[in-house]
Amino acid sequence: MRIILLGAPGAGKGTQAQFLMNTFGIPQISTGDMLRSAIKSGSELGKKAKQVMDAGQLVSDEIIIELVKERIAEPDCQNGFLLDGFPRTIPQADAMLEHGIQVDYVLEFAVPDEVIVQRMSGRRVHPGSGRVYHVEHNPPKEEGKDDETGEELVIRPDDQEQTVRKRLAVYHEQTEPLVEYYQKLAEKTDTEYHKIDGTKPVEQVSKELGELLQ
Ligand code: AP5
Ligand code: ZN
Repeated sequence: MRIILLGAPGAGKGTQAQFLMNTFGIPQISTGDMLRSAIKSGSELGKKAKQVMDAGQLVSDEIIIELVKERIAEPDCQNGFLLDGFPRTIPQADAMLEHGIQVDYVLEFAVPDEVIVQRMSGRRVHPGSGRVYHVEHNPPKEEGKDDETGEELVIRPDDQEQTVRKRLAVYHEQTEPLVEYYQKLAEKTDTEYHKIDGTKPVEQVSKELGELLQ
């Protein structure tokens, strides 16, 4: 099963990717997580990406397309994958089609901006795995600690309100056109497009996805 998770920052892509990964056994390809580990490793890519990400802007299409192309070619992606945070621009979506990479589902998570701004203030992440929590809506078993490793959870540097608002503006300008792009693609190919109400509680959204994809 090949899936694209489409939606604004904070719409719940990473959260539902965890559920889908566990349920269907397909790997999550999160370009955001890949860039964050490049930053952590101190690589050239990481150095370039950090400033851009901290400012809430998008990393260049060329860099991202190369990253994803290499990742999708790995053996664990041959039976399917979950794209989380990619494609995010029309050129990125075009590049997928040019490389013959088709998907079975495009799942759009719809959440109003103000709900997102509120949500982000409570997000905590486990940097090692990319696992996502929320202090109220999806708390870890032990406060401030990752469920599986017990390691410290952190606040993402791009989650301060000003940066979240910038990321939302970038989403509306550069990523939202993909809604129409994929709706049109779904009319003429086997790709299915579904819009999900991402304001419902985490478990409810997971339940709906499970039913949709079974
Ligand atoms: P990326 O890491 O992809 O960030 P994003 O798209 O901005 O999305 P988020 O991870 O912020 O949100 P999410 O939808 O995963 O929500 P989550 O599940 O965590 O990208 C970061 C940066 O990298 C970009 O700004 C850009 O610079 C760069 N980048 C990445 N990909 C790129 C690309 N393709 N091209 C160019 N640049 C790229 O949930 C958020 C919070 O809400 C959590 O606390 C969660 O617990 C909570 N929550 C989730 N669901 C619910 C619910 N149903 N109810 C209540 N709370 C919920
Ligand atoms: Zn995410």
